[in-house]
Amino acid sequence: MRPLNLPDQNLSEPDLSTLDLRDLDLFDLDLFTDGPPHELFRRLRDEAPVCFLPEPNGPGFWAVTRYADVVAASRDAATFTSAPRVFIEDPDEAVGDDHLLINIDPPRHTKLRKIVNRGFTPRQVAMLEPRVREIVVGLLDAVPEHGTFDLVTDVSVELPLQVIAELVGVPHEDRHRVFALTEIMMSVGDPDLGHTVEDARAAITEMFGYVDALAQERAANPGDDLLSRILAADVDGEALTPIETDFFFMLLMNAGSETTRNLITGGMLALFDHPEERARLQSEAALLPTAIEEMLRWVTPVMHFRRTAARDVELGGEQIRSGDKVVLWYTSANRDERAFPAAARFDVARTPNEHVAFGAGGPHFCLGASLARLEARVMFEELLTRMPTLEPGGPVRRLGSNFINGIKSLPVRTA
Ligand code: HEM
Repeated sequence: MRPLNLPDQNLSEPDLSTLDLRDLDLFDLDLFTDGPPHELFRRLRDEAPVCFLPEPNGPGFWAVTRYADVVAASRDAATFTSAPRVFIEDPDEAVGDDHLLINIDPPRHTKLRKIVNRGFTPRQVAMLEPRVREIVVGLLDAVPEHGTFDLVTDVSVELPLQVIAELVGVPHEDRHRVFALTEIMMSVGDPDLGHTVEDARAAITEMFGYVDALAQERAANPGDDLLSRILAADVDGEALTPIETDFFFMLLMNAGSETTRNLITGGMLALFDHPEERARLQSEAALLPTAIEEMLRWVTPVMHFRRTAARDVELGGEQIRSGDKVVLWYTSANRDERAFPAAARFDVARTPNEHVAFGAGGPHFCLGASLARLEARVMFEELLTRMPTLEPGGPVRRLGSNFINGIKSLPVRTA
């Protein structure tokens, strides 16, 4: 479904049920204000599972929406490369993001990932559980026992932020400054926050200044943290350059904090929206591991990543040309009725549940998957037992984004 001419029209208020799918503008953030447009993704899966769509400042991209196609492309990393980048839009000028691990193909990717891999194995992550619980308990102790608080800012943001800051080696008192910078980078386009591409560039520059200063300090006094490990790394006989170190730091901080927070908030919201499933989980704590997997499928905090075709190839019956952008919509794959029976149902006991929230396999599969699972499990263990009557206490405010399925505010209270 590749149109010869890309449409040039105002798509702000399309009739979604009759819209010609080739006219669909997935950069229209109005589509995402109430969460991902699942009905549109269902139409794409049924009618045009590999569909060429327009982008505002670029050549357009193939939207891949069925589970089987997303998995096939993700696992064929030689054909569907992560370079030059996994974000849909290409910047007008070089920004150096070719140094970002997630944008690099094997074999260099394999060597870079090895520098930090050891810190994220299931065994290594399991050892963090007491500290994760300590942080969770501290956060829940600090919120009012009988009053309203914001699940996002008081709880969900803080846990992954504190954990990743400690792992990377960011001093506790600096974590909010670093986090504020990652937030600016991730929220360009959100109308409430009003951050521009220029703001994001300025945030990146400020973060790199911060990393360079911290790296100097850490090079002189190495610790048992990831930054020290990155600074000591030897890849093909060479240390990483300062800019490579900056990007590595930025990726760990962004990926570690902007995602898990939305799993926690979105997971709680799913429980609020499905009281019968919540009651089932609260009466049978052993269901928590499957419930977390279902939250991952249901929320899909990272909605897509892009690949670039390295050769002409067929995917889902469409002819993709070398150089085309191919976007893997995890948020759609995770609701694909072909892969998940009763996919539109939130089921805390769903088994099997081979969701693609952490990616669909291949060399870039989420480095932090075990850590995110641990953080979510400990958080819900404590939340559900300490606050069994937690209920919504105000309107949900969502992040305007077609990339992160984010929640900015979720007021809650205990009954
Ligand atoms: C619920 C939470 C999380 C979700 C939904 C998530 C999702 C993802 C996805 C979809 C990818 C891309 C996979 C691919 O391209 O095949 C990814 C990669 C990555 N994630 Fe996560 N992530 C989460 C938590 C974390 C955490 C806590 C960390 C901690 C450091 C982390 C670090 C990374 C890194 C470094 C990569 C790039 C790996 C590479 O390029 O080799 N993520 N994540």
